[in-house]
Amino acid sequence: MQAPAAIAIQEGPDHVYTLANPSYRQFLGNRELVGKPLREVLPEFARLTQIVRDVYRTGEKWEGHEQVFKVDRGDGNWVEAYFNLIVQPVLGADGVITFGFEVTDLVRARKEKETLASDLESAVRARDTFVAIASHELRTPLTTLLLQADGLLRMLEKPPADPDKLRERGGKIQTQALRINRLIGSLLDVSRITGGRLRLDREPVELRALVEEVLQRSEGALKRAGCAVQLTASAVVGQWDRLRIDQVVTNLISNATKYAAGKPVRITVESDGKLARLVVADEGIGIDPADQARIFARFERAVSERNFGGLGLGLWISEQIVSAHGGAIRVDSRPGLGSTFTVELPL
Ligand SMILES: Nc1ncnc2c1ncn2[C@@H]1O[C@H](COP(=O)(O)OP(=O)(O)OP(=O)(O)O)[C@@H](O)[C@H]1O
Ligand SMILES: [Mg+2]
Repeated sequence: MQAPAAIAIQEGPDHVYTLANPSYRQFLGNRELVGKPLREVLPEFARLTQIVRDVYRTGEKWEGHEQVFKVDRGDGNWVEAYFNLIVQPVLGADGVITFGFEVTDLVRARKEKETLASDLESAVRARDTFVAIASHELRTPLTTLLLQADGLLRMLEKPPADPDKLRERGGKIQTQALRINRLIGSLLDVSRITGGRLRLDREPVELRALVEEVLQRSEGALKRAGCAVQLTASAVVGQWDRLRIDQVVTNLISNATKYAAGKPVRITVESDGKLARLVVADEGIGIDPADQARIFARFERAVSERNFGGLGLGLWISEQIVSAHGGAIRVDSRPGLGSTFTVELPL
């Protein structure tokens, strides 16, 4: 009766309980069992009933590991629990004895460990892919930069060098160096954010002016991409980190030039007195619904690296910045028709 295992004996062809120890009864809401046939007591346990019947009929022992049963721990709720179970004939008697050892905690712990392991595995895989992409992304501008520097040096060796051509080369070197600088900035942001070191320097920021500033800075890229911008904005002032919000706007506009080239981009800035809302809507390639949540995660991209360069970090960093401000960023998109990114920031 006091064994630290659930034990019960049923006798006869109707499997009437002749013994059920406290541990066994505890799993059945402490109901009275002795004297009752199995089918009456355990309609919920059709499978256990079948096992007991088979053992009674064949005289052969049955053993099962981590069997799931619903148990009532005394509060009237049936919850899932795992048992290692042995059901065998009682020697010298017309009955069957059941031993149950609960292993729910062990099974749960193992399942948690398995989930953790597979999460870790996919994190490591994502990081490996990322390292490969990052190296590739850094090398592309570096190759161009080296070529231009080489050309520049050769022009200088054969004077008189044409100042216009020298300036052009210098400009190309600068563009590529800036691109490398931006990529390294993103990488530094990743370690800063994952290390919990994203601190905000709040100051009054006027969002429309900031967007206009970013647009001015992106003028060349927008023109090259063939994206005409239409800005509808009212002045909105909030307490934000200027450089970080600048980064969010820059990321969204840079995505529009990449994924919506040749199409117009509509940008809206508005406020309802509590929230500032920035909307960047393009008519580009759009994003499959299945990918829409994923793209805000680190290193996640929904396009092939062959067709579109990028680290898959822009939106992740943007989302981190926006949530640090207590705001939210979301996407609404239809493949082939375009994407609309909305950022909401408490003033
Ligand atoms: N405007 C958009 N239209 C269509 N797809 C988009 C758009 N913006 C983002 N995406 C998708 O979301 C993915 C993640 O965007 P994110 O800005 O984080 O990374 P990225 O642009 O690939 O690289 P980077 O780190 O250089 O910004 C992109 O790879 C692309 O698949
Ligand atoms: Mg991007």
